[in-house]
Amino acid sequence: MIYIANWKMHGNSRDIESLNPIIKLSKQKKYRNIKLVYCPPYTLLDLMKRKFINSKIHVGAQNCHFNSEYGAFTGSINSKMLKSIGTKYVIIGHSENRTDGDNDLIINKKIKSALQENLKVILCIGETLFEKRKKLTKKILKKQIKNSLYKVKKVENIIFAYEPRWAIGTGIIPKTKTLTKNIIDIKKILISVNKKLNSAKILYGGSVNSQNVKEIVKIKGIDGFLVGGASLNSKKFIDIIKKSIN
Ligand code: PGA
Repeated sequence: MIYIANWKMHGNSRDIESLNPIIKLSKQKKYRNIKLVYCPPYTLLDLMKRKFINSKIHVGAQNCHFNSEYGAFTGSINSKMLKSIGTKYVIIGHSENRTDGDNDLIINKKIKSALQENLKVILCIGETLFEKRKKLTKKILKKQIKNSLYKVKKVENIIFAYEPRWAIGTGIIPKTKTLTKNIIDIKKILISVNKKLNSAKILYGGSVNSQNVKEIVKIKGIDGFLVGGASLNSKKFIDIIKKSIN
């Protein structure tokens, strides 16, 4: 199982101490085989990486610029810079960045530049509420996957996070039946796009908490979770891990 903590625009240096319980958990035998990745804001990447130095917890960025070289892009960070400070993962195509203007073409360029630096990509896909109501979910997922992976080579370094955009931060999650179907559809789409994606990891994200995770984890084909709000509090995040492993 893979657990990704997405801190979004939260946290400062004082919050690093709150990671002690998760470091402790990661060293327990029972949780030896889980993969833990923390994605703080850029400002905390280096500090968090140092904090995790004697543990197996990785750090990831929440985004990157599409340009692989240095350049005149005020306020941006590219994958080369992320790599240089020991970042291992990068989230690409998050719903909040899609809302800010990231389209499939930009996402495709970001993926290529991240893979070029040997970063592992966490690619977020998912439909809006409007698209869900219009029964366009499968079509949207297909479009997002196909376009984002256009001419992408090292696809085995991509983890897919299915995050229905209407489920993020709302406390609402998809019905089990719908989620089961969507995961099956995603799996089929991935294989049709590239056979190497046969064993790709698929995570679920969107309002995951310690109560609903017990149900979601039963769904076949879900290999982990991308957690936003609940990951800001170590106790809540640990609860999610424990409830989904027991
Ligand atoms: P949430 O966010 O868990 O707060 O819904 C998930 C995400 O945006 O990755």
